[in-house]
Amino acid sequence: MTSNRSLKNKCTSAIFKILTILAISIFVFKTADTLKAQTLQGGKKISPDLFGLFFEDINYSADGGLYAELIQNRSFEYNPAERREWHNLSYWEYISPGYSYGRISVETKAPVHPNNPHYVVLDIEHVGNYEQYKGESGVGLKNPGFDGIVIRNGEKYSFSMFANLLSDEPLDLLVSLQNRKGEVFAKSTVTISFGKWQKYVTELTALADCDSAFLVVLAKNTGKLAMDMVSLFPEKTFKNRPNGLRADLAQILADMKPKFVRFPGGCLVHGDGLGNMYRWKNTIGPVEERKSQRNIWGYHQTTGLGYYEYFLFCEDIDAKPLPVLPAGVSCQNSGGTWRIGGVGQKAIPKEDMPEYVQEICDLIEWANGPATSTWGAKRAAAGHPEPFNLEYIGIGNEDKITPEFEERFKMIFQVVKELYPEITVIGTSGPFHSGEDYDKGWAFARKLGVPVIDEHYYVQPEWLIANQYRYDSYNRKESKVYLGEYASWGNKLRNAMAEAAYLTGLERNGDVVIMASYAPLLAKKGFTQWKTDLIFFDNTSICPTPNYYVQKMFMTNKGDYYFDNVITKNKADSTLAASCVKDSKTGDIIIKLVNAGVVPKTMKVDLSRFKKIAADAEKILLTGSSDAENTFEKPDNVVPVKSVFTVSKTFEYETPAMSLTVIRIKTVK
Ligand code: AHR
Repeated sequence: MTSNRSLKNKCTSAIFKILTILAISIFVFKTADTLKAQTLQGGKKISPDLFGLFFEDINYSADGGLYAELIQNRSFEYNPAERREWHNLSYWEYISPGYSYGRISVETKAPVHPNNPHYVVLDIEHVGNYEQYKGESGVGLKNPGFDGIVIRNGEKYSFSMFANLLSDEPLDLLVSLQNRKGEVFAKSTVTISFGKWQKYVTELTALADCDSAFLVVLAKNTGKLAMDMVSLFPEKTFKNRPNGLRADLAQILADMKPKFVRFPGGCLVHGDGLGNMYRWKNTIGPVEERKSQRNIWGYHQTTGLGYYEYFLFCEDIDAKPLPVLPAGVSCQNSGGTWRIGGVGQKAIPKEDMPEYVQEICDLIEWANGPATSTWGAKRAAAGHPEPFNLEYIGIGNEDKITPEFEERFKMIFQVVKELYPEITVIGTSGPFHSGEDYDKGWAFARKLGVPVIDEHYYVQPEWLIANQYRYDSYNRKESKVYLGEYASWGNKLRNAMAEAAYLTGLERNGDVVIMASYAPLLAKKGFTQWKTDLIFFDNTSICPTPNYYVQKMFMTNKGDYYFDNVITKNKADSTLAASCVKDSKTGDIIIKLVNAGVVPKTMKVDLSRFKKIAADAEKILLTGSSDAENTFEKPDNVVPVKSVFTVSKTFEYETPAMSLTVIRIKTVK
């Protein structure tokens, strides 16, 4: 077993060695090896990881979304650099009911942890005791969460906070959940008794439903205390994990059965300037020690949903983790480059690159190293002694392909390749399907022998239909493709059908496109930065788009072999698309038929190459009018419908206008 010190030395010397070697290494197509043309009844092997998820904290997807924390600005770190009107006490109201009085201040002198510098000091000078006052007297704080805290009758909520008693006598805090009128739905008491930072926890049980509750923390006697990390989680998070995920949102993602999850973005990865890059080490360990920061999308990211939670979620839903790390350069749009005065892409100084490359090596050790290694020990301390079995890492996110980018990417790539040959590095080819960065990105990756390239494009539905054969002509001997971000602009059924047609092309080319993920994934109603998204949600409900159902129908009906010449359709009609795959585990043959046009059309299916097929197949149909969409009022307007469908060796199928049909046929042994 390599010791940490020798691993470090090995890594550092490799970095320097590689920096001096300008010779270009031979192409290593590890993935190509695993996908070596194998055949099954004449079928073509397709990637086992073809369909996955792209997760980015955009549109309040994490804080206020998937991350189940119910308190907004829990650690008093909101500030005007994030949003002009924000300050440390945003979303907190100082209260002193019952003619009580005191003082509140935000301080930084002795924080819980230097990464979390601000905290609140409450000085309670007087607690009112007028008999006429019916409510609870005291001095304290009130928080509305993210547009109201949702509580459900009988459900339990875990409250926690860090406190430091700054006066002599213990202080009682009444913690409650109340509605706007002050009606109390849950309460408990915490006694603060230590003159040093300490975590206090209590459980609250809701006695009623409320979609817009407030958390109220009220000191009941005079004294002084410091408070930080004021937190409230539903006890029922996804898989009941502490510091966990909102159960319904996580479940709808799990229901798709994705083969991988890419995280933490998107542009969030390379960040708005060097200081805003997403640095994974800031996002692990105890939450009170993590570094929160401004989100490139214009709000605050607590990093409470950090690398540990992302990896756990992947494990919980049996998906491979795909972390994407900056390639040593910031987003080319840093500082709002599209506006006058932006600063553009910034690069980590060359002399700091060895340390940065080490940071990436450390991630691999954190994910895969033994619990006795330096970084593996941190994973173990968090509660996961077993490795996470990381296979892929992305380096860079649709970066502008500049000399600065190329130099830094190469340093990272060469070191990872040498030290961790088992890891597949995914490179990047700019933000569009073609053009300068695409051409330069591919040329650079080819030269370097990068095994997989991440392509991104957001396009009109017509583009997807017209380009559904894009990957048919990709060179099978070069780098593979990860279609890391794509969508047609819109969430109507016609958008979803264009994507469905395109997805049949991805299946057909599942030997060269080894991974694909629609983006963005989640969007909170009223808080969106991107106009087309897969799943919309608010605090209480979820509205999956027709695009979601298309993704889900492909992900839950995937195969590992692709078969040509099973389905015959009018070749001249580009609104028709189809694919046939076989899932060799179940033996099922799965046919997908797409009609993205406005009139019904017939396709012919010939299953005679498959030995024995069962007559009763499962049919799943998604159809509607071309403008049909799902809304919060009518979330089930466009949903797939299952039925039994009788098949024979050859049959004709009339595809309804604007439809995706999946027919799942059992084979008989
Ligand atoms: O998916 C939204 C954004 O689109 C991503 O952050 C970025 O990578 C792309 O431009």
